[in-house]
Amino acid sequence: MKIMAGNSNLPLAGAIAAYLEVPLTNASVRRFADEEVFVEIHENVRGEDVFVLQSTSYPANDNLMELLICIDALRRASAKRITAVVPYFGYARQDRKSGSRTPISAKLVANLITEAGANRVLSVDLHAGQIQGFFDIPTDNLYGEPVMAADIQARYAGGDLMVVSPDVGGVVRARALAKRLDNAPLAIVDKRRDRPGQSEVMNIIGDVAGRTCILIDDIIDSGGTLCNAARALMDAGATRVAAYISHGVLSGGAVARVDASALDALVITDSILPTEATKASERIRILSIAPLLGEAIRRIADESSVSSLFD
Ligand code: R5P
Repeated sequence: MKIMAGNSNLPLAGAIAAYLEVPLTNASVRRFADEEVFVEIHENVRGEDVFVLQSTSYPANDNLMELLICIDALRRASAKRITAVVPYFGYARQDRKSGSRTPISAKLVANLITEAGANRVLSVDLHAGQIQGFFDIPTDNLYGEPVMAADIQARYAGGDLMVVSPDVGGVVRARALAKRLDNAPLAIVDKRRDRPGQSEVMNIIGDVAGRTCILIDDIIDSGGTLCNAARALMDAGATRVAAYISHGVLSGGAVARVDASALDALVITDSILPTEATKASERIRILSIAPLLGEAIRRIADESSVSSLFD
């Protein structure tokens, strides 16, 4: 087995390689003067089972292009099997036509990865499970829940827990986490704008008074969804609110927004390389999914069960 990495998240790649006790493949992924991506693999990969690690996070297009060109280089170097390991699959939110004459970019990205030469895909907490169906190659979608549940048990056990979905679309994810937390009760934040032009009203479905609320979502981007949900939960009588989010996109002023929010803590994973601002925030903690990804890679290489990781 070989582990090769693009430049999007080298610390995570290093941690996965350390978990697997395999050195990172000697390769350079660099830029020409005009910013074209160039990849050169400095060791033999002929007949190898190669895992290419690259999150298509900011800068999404550059990182996607690096991934595609790494796969192309591996295919032309006669790798036996190429698995695109994409802990954060960017463009996933564009998974349907949101209006007339709009693209389904998640499907286009899936096509690009397949056409480049990937034989398999491994990702974490895809925005929608159905994105697996955008690929006609085997696709494993790992869940951050076990890692999050262990942290929640360690930090908040005995705190009258309630798992909260920040929107109606996230209920399945919230229910799965609640199940892992000894069937904790569930609440939902229902955002509604009754008429265009009216401001959004946050209705809480469920009695959160006196509870430690655990918000769970796949992505925090601007932080608006989460910070507004945290405020609404505190206004409804929650004792404290912590958020567990798989992918810390945290664009624009998101970190400042989180720092000024009603959140007790925001816990994200290292699927995306944290910025200096993220690392400096006292409100944000980062859990590593390197062991989870490492173990899944080991099992794929051994042709053993990946789903049993979540039993
Ligand atoms: C949306 O469907 C996602 O699950 C997240 O709720 C959303 O991307 C968060 O975005 P923001 O942080 O910008 O509110």
